[in-house]
Amino acid sequence: MNAALEQIKQEIISGAEEVKSSKEAYEFRKKFLDGKTGKIGLLMREMKNIPPEQRADYGKGVNELKEWAMGIISELDIKMKSKELLERYEAEKIDISLPAEKSEQGNLHPITLIRNQLIDIFAGMGFEIFDGPEIETDYYNFTALNTPQDHPARDMQDTFYLSPEFLLRTQTSAGQIHVMENKKPPIKILSPGKVFRSDDDATHSPMFTQMEGLVVDKGITLCDLQGMLDVFVKKIYGENTKTRLRPSYFPFTEPSVEVDCSCFECGGKGCKLCKGTGWIEILGAGVVNDKVLENCGVDPNEYSGFAFGIGIERTAMLKYGINNIKLLFESDLRVLKQLND
Ligand code: PHE
Repeated sequence: MNAALEQIKQEIISGAEEVKSSKEAYEFRKKFLDGKTGKIGLLMREMKNIPPEQRADYGKGVNELKEWAMGIISELDIKMKSKELLERYEAEKIDISLPAEKSEQGNLHPITLIRNQLIDIFAGMGFEIFDGPEIETDYYNFTALNTPQDHPARDMQDTFYLSPEFLLRTQTSAGQIHVMENKKPPIKILSPGKVFRSDDDATHSPMFTQMEGLVVDKGITLCDLQGMLDVFVKKIYGENTKTRLRPSYFPFTEPSVEVDCSCFECGGKGCKLCKGTGWIEILGAGVVNDKVLENCGVDPNEYSGFAFGIGIERTAMLKYGINNIKLLFESDLRVLKQLND
């Protein structure tokens, strides 16, 4: 009998060393102390089969073993639980000295930034903002701008017609007519807005943004245009940037010019951006055609004016060195984050 108790005791002593977690300690307790299946529990159940004269001794021995085992196994359980708690503390430790996670900050889109910059520059020269409609009649977008039906210049801009009469404006120049119809000179307006053309490749998008400028007063000449553009170009591309005018054609200006500025990348020596020419085309402009003034009831003998149209996406592409216009419309934050001044 004593040998059996001794064996269980040894089993507990050596078994306790193998226990590595509170879960194993729980199983270990069950193995010995469970009332029905535990090794010590079974010894208790044996009691009824023991001859009555030996029962007291037997009971005492088993009880002592049980008390002892409970003590050992409880200690084991406490040891495992505190070890696990320490491990959990370690794993869940928060390093309060780490810098906080940065929260993302929104920003204006590069197109908005450039538009605002242009507005600032021209507002400083006394221009007022005019906001023209995006849906125009054929008359405002073409006919009044000296581009009647069948005029070959209509082919220059592939138009989205909504009906034979209505269309999505192809140019902010349509706004010139609204302004001159409604206001007597002196006129000095800037009209930014979306325009639409059926055109889609790396440098063209069916929707893009233009900024129209119109000045009408007594004695306005091409020199005034050049002087003003000089100021504008220096402000946006840098003090050393020069401008030059090249002859061009627009039905609503006469003479018409294409305005180039000296390449702000290479300073005019010739590079990839200016395709080796030293010059970059930045906008179309000209002296307002007499016919356009007449169409709006402005007397060309008394007044003259100049107009210009700047492509904002093109300005952004040049400024930020982007070669695909789609990057400006895809809203990819990885791209946009690089384009903030
Ligand atoms: N409307 C012209 C274009 O879209 C640009 C322009 C505006 C040219 C004003 C001359 C004067 O190409």
